[in-house]
Amino acid sequence: MTGLVFFFIACISFGSATVLTDIEAVSLEALPGFEAILQVERDQPVQIKVALKIRNNGNANIPPPIKPLENNFAFRLDVVSKNEGSSVQSWQVSSSDDTVTSLNINQVKTVTLGCTINISSAQCSKQLEICGCIKSERINVPLKSGRRMLKSSFTDSNEENDIICMPLSCKSVPGAEGDPHFLVYGSLSKLPLCFDIIGRAGEELILLNDTKAGWSVSAHVLDDRYFHAVSVRSANNVVMITTDKVVNTSLTWGNFGGYVMGNIHLSMGKSKDEKSMMVTTGKSSRTMVVRVNLAKHFDKREHLDIHIEEHDEMDEYIGGILGEAKKNYLGSENSVQFDQPYGAVFIKEKYFPAKLATRGGSRCWLVAPSQALYPFKVRDFIQY
Ligand SMILES: *[C@@H]1O[C@H](CO)[C@@H](O)[C@H](O)[C@H]1NC(C)=O
Ligand SMILES: *[C@@H]1O[C@H](CO)[C@@H](O)[C@H](O)[C@H]1NC(C)=O
Ligand SMILES: *[C@@H]1O[C@H](CO)[C@@H](O)[C@H](O)[C@H]1NC(C)=O
Repeated sequence: MTGLVFFFIACISFGSATVLTDIEAVSLEALPGFEAILQVERDQPVQIKVALKIRNNGNANIPPPIKPLENNFAFRLDVVSKNEGSSVQSWQVSSSDDTVTSLNINQVKTVTLGCTINISSAQCSKQLEICGCIKSERINVPLKSGRRMLKSSFTDSNEENDIICMPLSCKSVPGAEGDPHFLVYGSLSKLPLCFDIIGRAGEELILLNDTKAGWSVSAHVLDDRYFHAVSVRSANNVVMITTDKVVNTSLTWGNFGGYVMGNIHLSMGKSKDEKSMMVTTGKSSRTMVVRVNLAKHFDKREHLDIHIEEHDEMDEYIGGILGEAKKNYLGSENSVQFDQPYGAVFIKEKYFPAKLATRGGSRCWLVAPSQALYPFKVRDFIQY
């Protein structure tokens, strides 16, 4: 019922009208080709298309609209969280194939409705419903006196049946949450820089390398755009960690212990709640420490989260996505208005607009990968 309460606050109609009747939203159905399963990609708008059946239950016909009105009906659509009754996007005005339609006593008509709604992945995991509502068209008519009068096509004697809902299943598509996001701390800026690289299946991205010390860390992307393997290479050795095990060793996730492969050292974390392992290589100021965590995303698929510790040397021998982005991230500026979520970041010798965002639980300045990596491109970091 809370959904209804919300609805009346948001979509109430009033104004002067001549016709008093009761219009009912009778049923809501998915249109062919739209099976009421929303495929949601992070921050991407989704299109909704439904068929709404309406009926005139009252004692008066609704004739074609009388000027200055051009329509009889206004339709709205929203996605509502079923148990919380909360709106996902406060009743979007929906386009309809027939807003003009006249409706006589007891007449039934079906109209198709469409709108675009932004649903976040967090909202997507809740129990959702699509709701449609029908109201009289209303417009503000300016009077000669300078005042305005609200005109509507009819007055509805019963508003409780103006809304109708149907279940909706929402599915986060691969990549929705997990496009590898990168967080890089600069030396001068308080907030880190962040960017999302949409990797393609099979790609191996060079995350950080040190050509003087002779090591590199790279990550492998699978079809769900998450990292599924990490490789640490030194001059003579390579260690590859997958979501199952450490390749060519007896180490698997959950069996504690250490392992040494040439100058690469591995140790499994001992925490019961968190499956993690540390890999280290390199000497003194050119030491590299990476922590790899086994994590789960949608459909309970596993992936790897990778954290590379702050590196002491940031010179010309350091490369990779994290190395280049960190070396070139020289500062940031807030927007002039403090309440604005926009700012600018200074990368190499250029300013780029940035947006405040949250990645991996940290506030950060979000930019496009081509900006974070300027003057390089993502393809410069793909290992072949
Ligand atoms: C939905 O998100 C897009 C950006 O992806 C934005 O341009 C648009 O204004 C949003 N729509 C609403 C109704 O918030
Ligand atoms: C695992 O061992 C095989 C056979 O010796 C070798 O070809 C492969 O490169 C090794 N892989 C890793 C990641 O060490
Ligand atoms: C190190 O990273 C750079 C990209 O910054 C790449 O061009 C280079 O091939 C990498 N070298 C090694 C040895 O991994």
